[in-house]
Amino acid sequence: MTSDDLLARHRAVLPSWMPLYYDEPIELVSGSGRRVTDAQGRSYLDFFGGVLTNMIGYDIPEIREAVQRQLATGIVHSSTLYLIRQQVELAEKIARISGIPDARVFFTNSGTEANEAALLVATNYRRSHQILAVRNSYHGRSYAAMGITGNRSWSASALNPLQVAWLHSGERLRGLLSRLGPDDQVDAAVEDLREVLATQTAGEVACLIAEPIQGVGGFVHPPDGLFAAWKKVLDESGILFVSDEVQTGWGRTGEHFWGYQAHGVTPDLLTFAKGIGNGFALAGVVGRADVLESVPAISFSTFGGNPISTAAGNAVLDYLLDHDLQANAARVGAILADGLRSAVGGLDCVAEVRGKGLMLGVEFVRPGTTEPDPAMTVRVFEACKAGGLLAGKGGLYGNVLRMGPPLTLTEEEAREGLAILVDAIRSSAEVPA
Ligand SMILES: Cc1ncc(COP(=O)(O)O)c(C=O)c1O
Repeated sequence: MTSDDLLARHRAVLPSWMPLYYDEPIELVSGSGRRVTDAQGRSYLDFFGGVLTNMIGYDIPEIREAVQRQLATGIVHSSTLYLIRQQVELAEKIARISGIPDARVFFTNSGTEANEAALLVATNYRRSHQILAVRNSYHGRSYAAMGITGNRSWSASALNPLQVAWLHSGERLRGLLSRLGPDDQVDAAVEDLREVLATQTAGEVACLIAEPIQGVGGFVHPPDGLFAAWKKVLDESGILFVSDEVQTGWGRTGEHFWGYQAHGVTPDLLTFAKGIGNGFALAGVVGRADVLESVPAISFSTFGGNPISTAAGNAVLDYLLDHDLQANAARVGAILADGLRSAVGGLDCVAEVRGKGLMLGVEFVRPGTTEPDPAMTVRVFEACKAGGLLAGKGGLYGNVLRMGPPLTLTEEEAREGLAILVDAIRSSAEVPA
């Protein structure tokens, strides 16, 4: 069967609002390490990892064998009505490394459900359905998660079980913070929070939820320390702080294990997903015991934290810690960031090379302006593919190229990918728009 057949069949049976990447979409049929091969036999270095999800890479023996061992027991599923050894072990590890004292963990299948669970406990704990969310955020696809998602392109419904008030994002190219110097940005964002609390809420807000680096939002992030400054204000009235670490967790930012740690703050709740399963459906929320225990009825997830996904999760986390992949993300990420900044940072179509560790974005604009250039972004994106590199796209205006490779990326692979990226950006900049 050819890919074209598969594309036609895909289009005939799957909804069009679930987009495919590329003018000529590809099917990935095998993978190893940081490389994947498509149905035409073309090989790619993968700098997007299935949206930052293949965090360790493809076909990692330690993870494959852990899953095979669990499969061999015959118990793929038991439900959480029975003790699940792999789940308890993983919860113990996550509670320990979360940085949250006396933590409890609840497992789900997706980041969306993890955020739903965080909202469930926060709203029950505070007896309030008022939430503070951040513009340009993405938190998932349920009604509540869409309701706290500040991006029109991903908001498929206005139905919302929550009352949401919006804070400015960390965007520093346009908007509130762009007009200020670095020293004034935190003060301005705190002032914004106080004003939103005073003008758009009825007090008694349940929580503020924020991504340390906005993933879908194009890797926009606020100045370090902002979350602590926000939390000081939140603490005045007991408002909880939730860190959505679905993209930033597990050492990806290089400098820290969790994104929130760049801010000198400990969240009350933290949500995780994507990378911890390395492709197996595994996500959850970890939080202060008194908050997580505040659900007043039975609530469970049939598949959440099942024996297979948590067997994978344990193997992923052990591998990550044993190989100190956070340090690798810092080291290899610096090669990419420095290389991009020096090779293309000066081009007048590149507004910014930003991000941390192995979470890097390049924002494209019309030369000499801050006007987004999504067409240029698509050209670069397609040129990367032609050169043998898979990357991602994002940003409120679709004008940010996103890189989130597996944390096992080697220095050699980073240099190889960098060369493809630089070529793709330079050649795309030369094409008249
Ligand atoms: C920051 C963040 N939160 C939540 C989600 C939702 O996760 P899922 O797609 O697993 O439901 C995503 C997905 O991209 C995300 O990036």
